[in-house]
Amino acid sequence: MAADRELREQADAFVLRACERRYPYNFTWMGVPVIQFPQDLVALQEVIFRVRPQLIVETGVAHGGGTIFLASMLELLGGDGSVVAIDVDVRAHNRAVIEAHPMSKRIALIEGSSADAAVIADVRKRAQGLRTLVVLDSNHRHAHVLAELRAYAPLVGKGGYVVVLDTIVERMSPAQIGDRPWAPGNSPMTAVREFLAENPRFSIDLDLENTLLISAAPGGYLRADRDP
Ligand SMILES: C[S@@+](CC[C@H](N)C(=O)[O-])C[C@H]1O[C@@H](n2cnc3c(N)ncnc32)[C@H](O)[C@@H]1O
Repeated sequence: MAADRELREQADAFVLRACERRYPYNFTWMGVPVIQFPQDLVALQEVIFRVRPQLIVETGVAHGGGTIFLASMLELLGGDGSVVAIDVDVRAHNRAVIEAHPMSKRIALIEGSSADAAVIADVRKRAQGLRTLVVLDSNHRHAHVLAELRAYAPLVGKGGYVVVLDTIVERMSPAQIGDRPWAPGNSPMTAVREFLAENPRFSIDLDLENTLLISAAPGGYLRADRDP
C-alpha cells in the first residue's frame, strides 16, 4: 500500500489541506477536545498495547483530550499505569475538566516548560524503574523538541517508543502553518533528524507509518532498538 505512489500523494495532500482547515481540532476523546488526527490516536493505541507502559510522559496538554486518551488506554489495559502530563500553561478551565474526569485518577499534571531543568528532574524521578512511553506534542520549534528528545528519550528502554507529533510541520506551507513560531527547517522533523544522528539506538517505525498514511507524525514514531 505504501508503495502506491498515487495513494501516498493523495494522502499527503489530504493531510496538508486538512491542517489548513484545522481538521485535527474537530475531535474529542471521552468528552474532552483532543488536537490530533484520529489515525495517530489509533497508532498510539497500537504502541501502548505493544509496550504496556507503566508511565506515559506527555508534553503539551492544551484542553487535555490527548492526556485523557492516554490515561483511558492505560485504564483498559488494567494495572496501575499513569500519565504525567506537562504544559507550560495549564488553563484553569482545562485543569478543572481534567481533574473532574473519570480518568483523572491516572493523571498527574505538571505546569512548567517541558525543557525546564526542574521539570525534567521531577519527571525522571517519577519514571525511575518504570517502563515509560514518551509522547512529545508541545512547542514544535527545532530547539525545543530536540531538548525534549535529549531529556526524555533516555527514559525509554528497548522496545519502547518516543512519539514526536506534528513532524508534518516540515511539509507545510506558510498558509498551513499560520501565525506560529515554527516552520520547515525549524520543526519537530528537523529535531528528530538531529536526534537520530546522535542516537542510533532509535529508529523510525516505518511499518506503523506505512499503514497509517494519514498522520501528522510522519517519521515521528521512534522505536528504541536497545536499552540506553
Ligand atoms: C498542540 S497542543 C497539545 C495538544 C494535546 N497533546 C492533544 O493531544 O490535544 C500544544 C500545547 O503545548 C503547550 N506548550 C507550549 N510550549 C510548551 C513548553 N515549553 N512546555 C510545555 N508545554 C508547552 C501549549 O501551551 C499547548 O497547550
